[in-house]
Amino acid sequence: MVAGADWWRGAVLYQVYPRSFADSNGDGVGDLPGITARLDHIARLGVDAVWICPFYASPGRDFGYDIADHLAVDPQFGTLADFDELLRQAHARGLKVLLDLVGGHTSDQHPWFQRSRARRDAPEADWYVWADPSPDGTPPNNWLSVFGGAAWSWEPRRRQYYLHHFLSSQPALNLANPAALEAVLAVGEFWLRRGVDGFRLDAIDFLAHDPALRGNPARPPADGQVPAKLFGLQEHRHDMMDASIMPILRRIRALTDRYPGTTTLGEVSSQDGAFARVRRYSAGEDHLHMAYTLRPLRGGFDHATVRDLLRESAGEGEEGWPCWSFSNHDVERAVSRWNPDRPAAPDPRFARLLAALLLSLRGSVCLYQGEELGLTEAELTLEQLRDPFGLSYWPEFRGRDGSRTPMPWRAAAPQAGFTTGQPWLPVPAGHHALAVDRQEAEEGSLLQVWRRLLRLRRAHPALVRGSLRPLDLPRPLAGLVRDYAGQRILALFNLSGEAASTVLPMPGGARMLPEAAGLGGRIQGDTALLAPFGVVLAELETSDRTVPRRAARLIRA
Ligand code: BGC
Ligand code: MG
Repeated sequence: MVAGADWWRGAVLYQVYPRSFADSNGDGVGDLPGITARLDHIARLGVDAVWICPFYASPGRDFGYDIADHLAVDPQFGTLADFDELLRQAHARGLKVLLDLVGGHTSDQHPWFQRSRARRDAPEADWYVWADPSPDGTPPNNWLSVFGGAAWSWEPRRRQYYLHHFLSSQPALNLANPAALEAVLAVGEFWLRRGVDGFRLDAIDFLAHDPALRGNPARPPADGQVPAKLFGLQEHRHDMMDASIMPILRRIRALTDRYPGTTTLGEVSSQDGAFARVRRYSAGEDHLHMAYTLRPLRGGFDHATVRDLLRESAGEGEEGWPCWSFSNHDVERAVSRWNPDRPAAPDPRFARLLAALLLSLRGSVCLYQGEELGLTEAELTLEQLRDPFGLSYWPEFRGRDGSRTPMPWRAAAPQAGFTTGQPWLPVPAGHHALAVDRQEAEEGSLLQVWRRLLRLRRAHPALVRGSLRPLDLPRPLAGLVRDYAGQRILALFNLSGEAASTVLPMPGGARMLPEAAGLGGRIQGDTALLAPFGVVLAELETSDRTVPRRAARLIRA
């Protein structure tokens, strides 16, 4: 594991979505004791930390991202004592623990909002974003909610509208109000005192908006078609990403700085300029430690996408520290989303390629539960759907439940061993064969590949904190060199389903790394040979540090 106060630099974080990880009491919903019971799986993978999505008291309209009490564990998930035990057991296994800090909004059931909505002279009156109606009674401006409809809802008791970027039951906190910001920081401090190692900061682009509440300009659709999600029809100039976020991030950083060795990981939206915001928010020592964006996940998976990814990962002047993820609880699982063989099932070799690519990028990495098993996106019927985002946009957009189905632990067990009851979302039939116990026993399974690659990464500082130089290779190849204190690692990826080869893009010898055996790549003399979706990971033996950018020559095998 990575030692020292900056352990987070280049660390791999395993993301747990508690509802779907492991259910200990048969109610069909995963819980904290369930996570504790399965910590060995996470530790054996060889990751550095666990990020646990919200398990706080919540009415569950947005499945925990609508918090009614930040300091309490929702009874569905267990108790505070269960959390302390989880933390103790994780630390005993050398795993750091990050919690989700949702500072942008609460549930409408939160006592803060209950008091704020009741009276204009309550102490919490300005903790949320209140505004008078327009003269004609319509909302104060044209801002839209991500989940559909206006971003404003009417509160008769105050005769004012309140702002919500997601559900109307998720009122936005007004962090420009010092007392509201203090309250959020106090939540962070509560968990830091309990011993957590940092936070994933939810949806930080929504932490600050234009104080004058100016309306957003329209953004006409490029193809002239009205999109399924109306949020795409605006240029989000004023409702989010306001520059006044910087002092808020400084306060959060100052808090974690008082707890040495803790870290912050911001979630940046995929709106234009996402990579620049990742850099800006994580540069220097005063704001966040790291940030990730779902921006690279929005496009398809082709040569251009991967090249962009490598370029962004290389960093401009190495400012800031990115974190990368290909899958999480908000998006379609990567092996399905990017599957080049669609609609056929993804090629197992493709999942290995994605694992090797993700672990070769410069930055830290988030690995989403089930990604290590190659879980595919679940196909759910409207009756099975629970995500309000999907319910409001069905069938054009089916929401996020397809990546939130339960973890399969035992292939032969009912519900794949996730629960002894009825799971809150179904376990897809095809996921039984991908269960942990099956892959434990199977030589060369994706689970074993992930373990090997994580071991490889830990053993090579160049992969953890080295610089990254993208190689200029012709289709269907992509490649990079990581460099740290004289250690240089070459990674080559065949993005296609056909074999390919290339003359090694640099002089001198290259030694295949043994952990990368079985990934469909090998080196013969000065040529790299790559099977379909094959990967070469090699250590460069030359002391010559120049990488000729246009030296590559492709020979179709
Ligand atoms: C979380 C989502 C959630 C939203 C609103 C995020 O970005 O990852 O799951 O719905 O914030 O809290
Ligand atoms: Mg349970």
